[in-house]
Amino acid sequence: MWLHTQDGRKVIDAISSWWVNLHGHANPRIAAAIAEQARKLEHVILAGFTQEAAEQLAVRLRKWVPAELKHMFFSDDGSTAVEVALKLAVQYFSNQGRAEKNEIVALAHGYHGDTAGAMAVSDDSPFTEPFRSMRYPVHRVHSAYCYRCPVGLKRESCDIDCVRQLETLLAERRSQIAAVIVEPLLQGAGGMIVHPVEFLQRVRALCTKHDVLMIADEVLTGFGRTGKMFACDLAGVSPDLMCVSKGITGGFMTMGVTLCTDRVEEAFRSEDRMHTFYHGHSYTGNALACAAANANLQIFDDEPVFDRIGMIARIHSERLAEMRKRHQVGDARQIGTMGAIELRTEDAGYLSAMRPKLYGFFLEHGVLLRPLGNVVYVLPPYVIAPEELHRVWDVIEEAVETLL
Ligand SMILES: Cc1ncc(COP(=O)(O)O)c(C=O)c1O
Repeated sequence: MWLHTQDGRKVIDAISSWWVNLHGHANPRIAAAIAEQARKLEHVILAGFTQEAAEQLAVRLRKWVPAELKHMFFSDDGSTAVEVALKLAVQYFSNQGRAEKNEIVALAHGYHGDTAGAMAVSDDSPFTEPFRSMRYPVHRVHSAYCYRCPVGLKRESCDIDCVRQLETLLAERRSQIAAVIVEPLLQGAGGMIVHPVEFLQRVRALCTKHDVLMIADEVLTGFGRTGKMFACDLAGVSPDLMCVSKGITGGFMTMGVTLCTDRVEEAFRSEDRMHTFYHGHSYTGNALACAAANANLQIFDDEPVFDRIGMIARIHSERLAEMRKRHQVGDARQIGTMGAIELRTEDAGYLSAMRPKLYGFFLEHGVLLRPLGNVVYVLPPYVIAPEELHRVWDVIEEAVETLL
């Protein structure tokens, strides 16, 4: 859990180093697996060739992902996993002679990465502003941001009315739209926005009804973050394409995987070489990354990881119940191991003036937290001890009292 600074202080990593670390820094089991793999084979081209660690990982991953997702394409990180999903969706239709079905729908507040295609599907933000010219047009529809409901309703009495915008769009443009991309149940960088499960279920049903592929970007939510292995499991939803990365290697190595169904994969099986998916990165399926991922999944098999996740979720929910009573806190939200508060500040959003003050306060108090503007969230590695997690929330409470 702890990072040691040059000047001899200890800082608790309460955001899992940008949401990648699951079982602690320098986890000995993952470290040993990488070392052992490096002595056997560091890397081999994954075009026309394969290797044992990648084959093992494919088998292991298939045990955890929704059963329909039988095929996988390796890449380098979350952004490339998203690029691959978008390109697969577009080529899926063009391989069937429906090249005009190439438009993408994405959600307000969405974030899918910093490469050009991933930036296009991400919502407008300070991250994308200088690159407007590089972002291809995308249909943007409401997300289920209940605290700031886009259609002005209350969750207690609504019928997930925010999804109607998507419903209308798909009904009108089903012949042009290839895919809808969503961060299932939890929009991360957009402000740790937690959706009702019904929203995701309705998105799935609409995609099926209108013959549009559903892409679940589980780059953040995968590997236990929401309390289940994948957020889609929590909603009982199976996407056509799914992107995973971040936690896949336990936070050790960079790796992305895009999974798809038989139906998607079959569109690429053809005598016509123009139906090939011509996409590859030099380090695709890197053996060291595969070894780390295998060791990570072995830890899920051997250790009480979901008990640890349950403990984090319980403490979050206890502490958030207290937080909710504070006048400085506008909203408190949680899903599994992610607990967040949205503060009542003069200026909301990523560039909120409160953000640098909060960040500095946390670091001075030995806690690494990176608020998303006026949203403070905790997303720790699963090995955090109860007293460490309480300490993190104590510091947040102190910050709220001192700074607001
Ligand atoms: C949902 C989601 N998708 C994609 C990405 C991009 O991943 P990477 O930073 O590994 O490229 C992120 C990163 O935060 C993410 O949260």
